[in-house]
Amino acid sequence: PMFKLNENYLQLNQSYLFSKITKKVDDFINTNPDAEIIRLGIGDVTRPLPATVINNMHKAVEEMAVKETFRGYGPEQGYGFLREKIAEIDFKKRGINIDADEIFVSDGSKSDTGNIGDILGDSNTIGITNPVYPVYLDTTIMRIGKTEQIKLLVCNEENNFLPEIPTEPIDVVYLCYPNNPTGTVMNRKELKRWVDWALSNDSLILYDAAYEAFVNDTEVPRSIFEIADAEKCAIEFRSYSKNAGFTGLRCSYTIVPKALKAKVQGGECVSMNMLWGRRQSTKFNGTPYIVQRAAEAIYSSEGQKEVNDLVSYYMNNARAIRNGLLAKGMTVYGGDNAPYIWLKCPNGIDSWTFFDELLNKCHIVGTPGVGFGSAGEGYFRLTAFNSHEKTEEAVSRMNTNL
Ligand code: MLT
Repeated sequence: PMFKLNENYLQLNQSYLFSKITKKVDDFINTNPDAEIIRLGIGDVTRPLPATVINNMHKAVEEMAVKETFRGYGPEQGYGFLREKIAEIDFKKRGINIDADEIFVSDGSKSDTGNIGDILGDSNTIGITNPVYPVYLDTTIMRIGKTEQIKLLVCNEENNFLPEIPTEPIDVVYLCYPNNPTGTVMNRKELKRWVDWALSNDSLILYDAAYEAFVNDTEVPRSIFEIADAEKCAIEFRSYSKNAGFTGLRCSYTIVPKALKAKVQGGECVSMNMLWGRRQSTKFNGTPYIVQRAAEAIYSSEGQKEVNDLVSYYMNNARAIRNGLLAKGMTVYGGDNAPYIWLKCPNGIDSWTFFDELLNKCHIVGTPGVGFGSAGEGYFRLTAFNSHEKTEEAVSRMNTNL
């Protein structure tokens, strides 16, 4: 008999959304070689890495060249020097009690949100918003197939693109705030309702906070652990990609609180922190030493300032796009506490038609809302991660040509 493949993969969309867009744009460039394309599609940053990050990384590279300071395998969970700074500056300083041994350094939130299913049972019902960052849905399908267990939580204009608390039983829910793709945020009260729901239903929240640095509003929590007792029902994912420019360098971390326990058959309670540690030490040999030194630099006072400057730079772009579209009378979400702007396609056209229109008339690349799920049909996402100059140029082209 022939070997078998994981047939769940056959239930996925043919290609990952951003690969499909790249292909479409390449085709356009082939036939329009002189068009000056402005990319507001994939959320990839454009500013170089901060100077302190580069300096620390240089030092680490030199250490690797000398016998006495060379490093081989590091701790799978990440070096203490980084985990301790994360605990201190990202959490304790903001009044949140997270310890270094609850932090797992990794190479990106895509990896961790995609892999977390390894420690979850296959019989869970999984809540996934629609629209959604495709990784949560695709990796769930890879693992359990496109089954009835996947419950889509529709986000639309009626609920301001924020999911409602489920009325049917859901064991695990992925939430991402500030949201990719809609740019919407949950305030403290709204997030507390989710935490209370999870606690009273013995459910788990997988909270992707990759965009927390972009929050301006003090009513909007930057971590789910700002909400009382969330450490008993949530895992949080954090990334250096968007705030510190690490999309190419790769570094992130995940918080699995020690208070987070799951009951197994027989009633015994098992620590999810222990289980994720077991998973990581088996399948992952850690983020490179030099990259962790690069991330460490972010926590120096100079590094913190540089990161704040990067975030402000991109948020100025977000404001420019948001205001430009609003001035054209368009319906717009996000862009005030998030680097994504979610717009309603004009004149009732669908997402891919608007994609083509924007590419043909303005030479701008964006992301069709429907690529994030059926509820995104008729919507479109623009990112704030290009340069000021190109963003201003894009706003002016949309103003004139749309
Ligand atoms: C996006 O455009 O949605 C992001 O770049 C995806 C990611 O961070 O993986």
